[in-house]
Amino acid sequence: MANNEDLLKKITAHAKEYGFVFPSSEIYDGLSAVYDYGQLGVELKNNIKQYWWKAMVQMHENIVGIDSAIFMHPTIWKASGHVDAFNDPMIDNKDSKKRYRADNLIEDYLQKLEDKINKEVEKASKRFDNFDEQMFRATNQRVQEYQAKINNVNSRFQKAMINNDLHAIKALIEELGIVCPISGSRNWTEVRQFNLMFATQMGSTAEEADTIYLRPETAQGIFVNFLNVQKTGRMKVPFGIAQIGKAFRNEIVARQFIFRMREFEQMEMQFFVRPGEELKWFAYWKEERMKWHKSLGIKETKFRFHDHEKLAHYANAATDIEFEFPFGFKELEGIHSRTDFDLNAHQTYSGKKMQYFDPELNESYVPYVVETSIGLDRMFLAVLSNAYTEEKLEDGSERVVLKIPPFLAPYKFAVLPLVKKDGMPEKAREILATLQEDYNCQYDEKDAIGRRYRRQDAIGTPFCITVDNQTLEDNTVTIRFRDEMNQDRVSVEELPIIANRLLKNKR
Ligand code: GAP
Repeated sequence: MANNEDLLKKITAHAKEYGFVFPSSEIYDGLSAVYDYGQLGVELKNNIKQYWWKAMVQMHENIVGIDSAIFMHPTIWKASGHVDAFNDPMIDNKDSKKRYRADNLIEDYLQKLEDKINKEVEKASKRFDNFDEQMFRATNQRVQEYQAKINNVNSRFQKAMINNDLHAIKALIEELGIVCPISGSRNWTEVRQFNLMFATQMGSTAEEADTIYLRPETAQGIFVNFLNVQKTGRMKVPFGIAQIGKAFRNEIVARQFIFRMREFEQMEMQFFVRPGEELKWFAYWKEERMKWHKSLGIKETKFRFHDHEKLAHYANAATDIEFEFPFGFKELEGIHSRTDFDLNAHQTYSGKKMQYFDPELNESYVPYVVETSIGLDRMFLAVLSNAYTEEKLEDGSERVVLKIPPFLAPYKFAVLPLVKKDGMPEKAREILATLQEDYNCQYDEKDAIGRRYRRQDAIGTPFCITVDNQTLEDNTVTIRFRDEMNQDRVSVEELPIIANRLLKNKR
């Protein structure tokens, strides 16, 4: 656990040092759970967006995109259920005055028990050469006790959550003797529901002011435009509408860097289908989205499904694609069969028909919806944490390298003159100009070449092109490959073709 926390700290520090992610409002000591993307972060983020958009919109004839406003009519959030039910259970410690998510306190307790089991198993496997039956039995006994406790607490916890039983959650916290990490005391308030939406006022005068909300998901912008898009785009069910945009949630506990933020971005797609066909399409999108993740070249074992037992008020099936972040497997993307809940609710609240006439069936109906919803910032963290690698080299030196898939890397090529003289910078700039139109490239002539390679490794540039003495003689350059650190010598004329081959199909 400690090592994984260290890893997250290192990734956070690296992201800041190299201009990927900065804490928001840093000169004013920051704003909790809000972050700014720097000069490299914005490139990586844009590349992830493009990769998603291409897979969802460009590659599907029956999916189109929109960009709806963040501000929406307040009744939308009443209809969607967010005003009444978009809550987290919170609890305050009366001594430290700190606020926690009550469910997180219990989850952390369960995690500690899991860690204890892992430690016991690890210790036992180290002693395997020196097998001692008595010790083995004792270890086994302890593991079984921990496991029984986990099962017991977990089943009571799940039941309390499903029934929204706040008293049972409080009782569990008391019974388990969970203490506040700051004050160390068990002096807790009751558990209360806390609505996660940010409210603000719209209107030119105070009297006219209307409470509106910063959208907590982009999906509702799609639902309320469903008929606009269907009619103007002459879309036929099944079809999808995709959107990338900001969402806002007043998270009670914000932690784990950009994993849980108060302002974040979602990439969502609502797929409208015939009633009764939703579970078929749910299974389809489950597989499609997992394929997309695996196409990133990240180890397959880093992803897994987690099917929901507790379904949201609008869903009849739901699963998460979880990713193994430095702090364990956590939700990266949600795939939900949302039934006709949202369109029906908007029909009721707005008084406008949300029906589709199906020419093949010769009937009108409110379509069912399968949603795929991925957090862009979480995807960014998944790519970054998977890429972050510390390596010891043969010569005893060390390097930190970001092994970002080349098509997502902020810069694809760095063009480097070996020295700042003999016409090398001019030649390097010529090469830069030929590549720049198609790829984001960096030019760097400062410091020794070894240090420049390290700098490019640290920001994940997959290919370094070096102009040296030989270039001036035979018009060839070296290409250095980030991950293997090997080099090829190639002719400058062939560079555009080689560049295209290196980044083929994934731009
Ligand atoms: N429209 C459905 C919806 O919003 P969700 O599971 O609440 O479902 C979808 O959110 C995705 O949005 C999550 O899988 C996660 O990647 C991302 N997400 C949710 N809350 C977030 C937060 N506070 N910070 C960063 N990403 C978040």
